[in-house]
Amino acid sequence: SRTLSLAVIPGDGIGQEVVAEGLKVLSQALPQDVKLETKSYDFGAKRWHETGETLTDADLAQLKEHDAILLGAIGDPSVPSGVLERGFLLKLRFAFDHHVNLRPGKLFPGVKSPLAGEPAIDFVVVREGTEGPYVGNGGTLRAGTPHEVATEVSLNTAFGIERVVRDAYARAQARPRKKLTLVHKNNVLVHAGHLWKNIFDRVGEEFPEVTTDYLHVDAATIFFVTQPERFDVIVTDNLFGDILTDLAAAVTGGIGLAASGNINPSGEFPSMFEPVHGSAPDIAGQGKADPTATVLSVALLLQHLGYTAEAARIEAAVAADLAERFGTRSTSEIGDALAARLAAPAAYRVQPG
Ligand code: IPM
Ligand code: MN
Repeated sequence: SRTLSLAVIPGDGIGQEVVAEGLKVLSQALPQDVKLETKSYDFGAKRWHETGETLTDADLAQLKEHDAILLGAIGDPSVPSGVLERGFLLKLRFAFDHHVNLRPGKLFPGVKSPLAGEPAIDFVVVREGTEGPYVGNGGTLRAGTPHEVATEVSLNTAFGIERVVRDAYARAQARPRKKLTLVHKNNVLVHAGHLWKNIFDRVGEEFPEVTTDYLHVDAATIFFVTQPERFDVIVTDNLFGDILTDLAAAVTGGIGLAASGNINPSGEFPSMFEPVHGSAPDIAGQGKADPTATVLSVALLLQHLGYTAEAARIEAAVAADLAERFGTRSTSEIGDALAARLAAPAAYRVQPG
């Protein structure tokens, strides 16, 4: 029989609660003959306070042995800003070469968008995950003086751009609309912008069926709000992708529904799946968090590992649940409802659409 070895990192705040529901749904969705082996890791604020460690080389060596990683959220107001972001999350994404940061933006039927009408939103952002302004390339001069200078230099390599652009083309090619939009700001960020555009055009020759488009990031934010249906697959740099995907979450029902995958396509390192939202300490421990973003991240995890039908069943269960939502349910009530849909006999199941 097969096994799925999963590293589980609940983390801080609501991370604990939403990951529990994600696992509930995962065990229900997996085929009978797949043995789920989970190992939980205590990374996050508590461990940092106790040991000063965020993520050690030994931790990375252990994590590397798993097939995939499920992360809740890391972060707490008691930890100085940047310590866990850089020391844990970005360190992990960089160490495991998660260069494809996959973030679907889909408005499910019945979900209220703040946008007028009922826009048909169904796109996926392929955010570059290992370069750009995120690399920590820069520094401070004359600190503490009126003439202090700070630089934050964006790193863009032909190698790094080409691999993420090619991945995005392949994803566009596999979708019915076959459209790929590059988002950058090449009228101002001319060095990086032109490298992105040149590679985008060149790799496009390998994908003649894919329709392409280019937008400056400021214009893209307008279209996310006024014409979101124009997007199918979007490829963009690390920082633009960070900002755009929060906007994507906002127009598709909020961060409670936004899933993500930090993917290492070659499989050399395990990929990591996490809700886009953070640890939300203000509502932690109250059962108020929506576990749907984590559940949809579990679907991305299964998709990545080749359990395509199981991933589709989870998405269908979420779609059915969202279509029938009324009143307020707790975190575990939503998880239970989703697991129950997956447990229902086949004849009563909602078929993936
Ligand atoms: C995200 C987060 C992270 C990012 C932070 C916490 C480092 O905002 O996953 O979108 O900027 O990538
Ligand atoms: Mn973000």
